[in-house]
Amino acid sequence: MARFESDVLIIGSGAAGLTAALNLPSHLRVQVLSKGKLEQGATWYAQGGIAGVFSDEDRSENHIQDTLVAGAQLSHHDSVEHTVKDGPKSIQWLINQGVPFTKEDDHYHLTQEGGHSHRRILHSADATGQAIQQTLIQQAKAASNIELFEDRIAVDLITRRKLGLGKNACIGAYIHNQATGQVDLFLAKSVILATGGASKAYLYTTNPDGAASGDGIAMAWRAGCRVANMEFNQFHPTCLYHPKAKAFLISEAVRGEGGLLKLPDGSRFMHLFDERAELAPRDIVARTIDHEMKRIGCEYVHLDISHKPAEFIKEHFPTIYSRCLELGIDITKEPIPVVPAAHYTCGGVMTDIDGKTDIDGLYAVGETSFTGLHGANRLASNSLLECVVYGSSAAKRIAEELAKSEIIFPDVPAWDETQVTDSDEDVVISHNWDELRRFMWDYVGIVRSDKRLERAQHRVELLKKEINDYYSNYKVGKYLIELRNLVTVAELIIRCAMARTESRGLHYTIDYPESSPDLYDTVLVPENYIWPVSS
Ligand code: FAD
Ligand code: SIN
Repeated sequence: MARFESDVLIIGSGAAGLTAALNLPSHLRVQVLSKGKLEQGATWYAQGGIAGVFSDEDRSENHIQDTLVAGAQLSHHDSVEHTVKDGPKSIQWLINQGVPFTKEDDHYHLTQEGGHSHRRILHSADATGQAIQQTLIQQAKAASNIELFEDRIAVDLITRRKLGLGKNACIGAYIHNQATGQVDLFLAKSVILATGGASKAYLYTTNPDGAASGDGIAMAWRAGCRVANMEFNQFHPTCLYHPKAKAFLISEAVRGEGGLLKLPDGSRFMHLFDERAELAPRDIVARTIDHEMKRIGCEYVHLDISHKPAEFIKEHFPTIYSRCLELGIDITKEPIPVVPAAHYTCGGVMTDIDGKTDIDGLYAVGETSFTGLHGANRLASNSLLECVVYGSSAAKRIAEELAKSEIIFPDVPAWDETQVTDSDEDVVISHNWDELRRFMWDYVGIVRSDKRLERAQHRVELLKKEINDYYSNYKVGKYLIELRNLVTVAELIIRCAMARTESRGLHYTIDYPESSPDLYDTVLVPENYIWPVSS
């Protein structure tokens, strides 16, 4: 077993983790871990862009209002104000790092997405995440105080409480090294969870392999942090439907630039359900598509932008154009078959305005966190913004905390593998992955009911027992670590969904189709207790 020490350990190399790393002062030694390659996370795949008030016709108040409306009254005002007001500064920081946002004449081109009252989305054509990720990786590689580690999977956090040393404070993590197969010890004075969301709990998702298995949320939960609002899983309305395409998103910006949703017979339908039609917030669009697909029994609907000039389409959506063309769909001439898919986790590890969790020395930033920004539904392109705003706030707070305190690492035991053997039947892992994601899709998806949630709860209990037995008896590896975390986040999603006896934002249940007058977050505390907290 190898042992590493740093001032700050950052688990995750996406927009949130790397922003935090680059905003820490250079006298702090920083180690950043990535589960696979540094690029492998949701950030790389972000298409539409990052929201910020950059136009003279727009105001912070408009962006705040749009975020609150999309969040169906559950967004926390302090978080919304913090994020929106820091937005332009944070985006300017990205520009200063070298992110090549698309320009038109001498100013940044601002695109439009659902729920935004103004054009305010900065983007790099339709591959914004890739541009941000590449730039931040380059900067992190050039920083002398930042060390980057690939193919390292955090298994569990190390806390003083777990070691029997009193107050709960985080001092590092056990990390599985995929190259050696060993679990190493990474000690740190502060730890940041930046592991992304949990959409892999669902069978169909826009998230790529290696992302969104809820690792940070599950680790924080096991370590004693509160987790909130996990019922609000966002389904993106338009994921490409094609047997050879796995998880390829068709950006909301396609609708922002005039794309129309149509049934297979060519008729439009969104305007019949919401006056904002294709530009309604995505919970409404996803639910409407789901409703229409069930009503007429079709496997997908169409998204059509072929009425726009071919040059416009190729210039604005080069990635989507090429990928669809590879699959035989020329989007300048024909519509794109699309279906909704799990996209984004609005809930997560509860933090304060600086990303600090319930545990001293432990921070959560980006999609893994619950800052209160998104409420019951995230406004498009507010996620990358949250990553950058909170990544930088957490870095500032950590620098202040570390300047005040002297932390001495206690003796920490090595990872114990004396009681486990090599796995004898990997099929148990793959079977349970499939089963979990299938029942989550069928019973805890876009439309829920008490009966469906009860079925899901019953199944998750059985799976949890089986997976935990497996985890206790066999050596850990990537898929087992992820599966153990997925079953935990699935359980948290189900518990939150059962606790919310109303429909609001992304949580829609046929048993309680109306919104309740009471506004509350669904807060889970590790001692298995749920209580409503006013937002
Ligand atoms: P990620 O970028 O997912 O990074 C997570 C990191 O954690 C990775 O480095 C991963 O390797 C690491 N990690 C995870 N678990 C472990 C572990 N156990 N041990 C070690 N490392 C671990 N949002 C927008 O605002 N605008 C958009 O246009 C947009 N488009 C999107 C398009 C797609 C297809 C998807 C999937 C999402 C999109 N989103 C968009 C959402 C947004 O991209 C994500 O919410 C955001 O990138 C999350 O960043 P993050 O840094 O929190 O996590
Ligand atoms: C998209 O491009 O549609 C994704 C935007 C987002 O998830 O914010």
